[in-house]
Amino acid sequence: MTSQIYSCPVCRESIQIIGKSLHCTSCSINFPLVENIPIFYNIDNYYGEINREQMTELIEMAKTSGYQKAISVVIDNPWVQNYVLDENRAKWTHLLPLDSNTKVLDIGCGWGTNTIPIARKVKHVTAIDATLERVKFVQLRADESGLSNISTALASAMALPYPSASFDVVIFNGVLEWLGGDDTKKNPKDIQMQALKEAHRVLAPGGLVYIGIENRFSLRYFLGQVDDHSFIRFTSLMPRWMAQAYFKLRTGNDYFMHTHSLSVYRHMLKNTGFAMENEYHPWPNYRYPVEFAKLNKSGIVKHLSSKINELSFGARQWFYCTLLRWLTSWEGKGFFCHSFLFIYKK
Ligand SMILES: C[S@@+](CC[C@H](N)C(=O)[O-])C[C@H]1O[C@@H](n2cnc3c(N)ncnc32)[C@H](O)[C@@H]1O
Repeated sequence: MTSQIYSCPVCRESIQIIGKSLHCTSCSINFPLVENIPIFYNIDNYYGEINREQMTELIEMAKTSGYQKAISVVIDNPWVQNYVLDENRAKWTHLLPLDSNTKVLDIGCGWGTNTIPIARKVKHVTAIDATLERVKFVQLRADESGLSNISTALASAMALPYPSASFDVVIFNGVLEWLGGDDTKKNPKDIQMQALKEAHRVLAPGGLVYIGIENRFSLRYFLGQVDDHSFIRFTSLMPRWMAQAYFKLRTGNDYFMHTHSLSVYRHMLKNTGFAMENEYHPWPNYRYPVEFAKLNKSGIVKHLSSKINELSFGARQWFYCTLLRWLTSWEGKGFFCHSFLFIYKK
């Protein structure tokens, strides 16, 4: 915590450590420390694959028995266990120029499944999330893994408590689409743009932003796969007003988890000051990426052709790949891929 430099998320002035809190001398706000974690976000938010009581139990058990044991006892769903523990999920990190001089900001760090393997490669990782339980878990995981180059904070992507030009790489892995939940009265895209502007501000000149995210118009959704965020079929494909009405009717909640088309993502990045460095089609998706094709017609078509030739493929996979290859050959860009990886430069 101490090696990290903070700036006030409200006025951007520098912050001093006074006793058990951080203090902004300009606007006189105190930001408390909870279990040594700075608290810059005052909305009581909980995001999780398990409920809050289970998460609290898991954290307490991790303190005495270790985080792996706590996960095996508290989480009974093997998919979730694997999602939390499997560091292969961070395979995409080799696409970034990470070395012992790099300073990384992992926004929406979740369980730290990317934070931990990144920390082994770089100088320092700052891991923030808007859910305190997640930040506490990542800090425990870092300590137990013997990684002293990780700082954590409870902070929002839209008001980063760090000075301008303080990171070389900023990560949003599966995060941008959830930010609309911060204020469901606002347009989710405006909130996402605000987060991208903040990422741009805290990046050093030439720094990179990395985004892993689903495509609103994924072929899989057209074929009836349940939406990855609303868990209801076809919602991302609907006009927003219709998705909102339908989701509200089905769940009572607002539909804020907006993903976008390839061209809208490109626009958003360009309009927040970024220039394209690299774009990929992660296979089978960005959450568990195994292979990475360049996000252009020849990259995608070549990769899908090699998949189609794999004899172990089932009929459904064969059909999906063949249709996606045909669509990509026709439209030429990758508009129907399931997810994207964007690496853009400041
Ligand atoms: C799908 S999880 C992704 C976790 C992690 N990046 C990964 O790839 O495993 C989305 C994360 O974004 C966090 N999040 C949501 N809104 C946020 C905000 N306004 N600021 C920071 N993090 C936020 C959630 O708490 C959650 O941990």
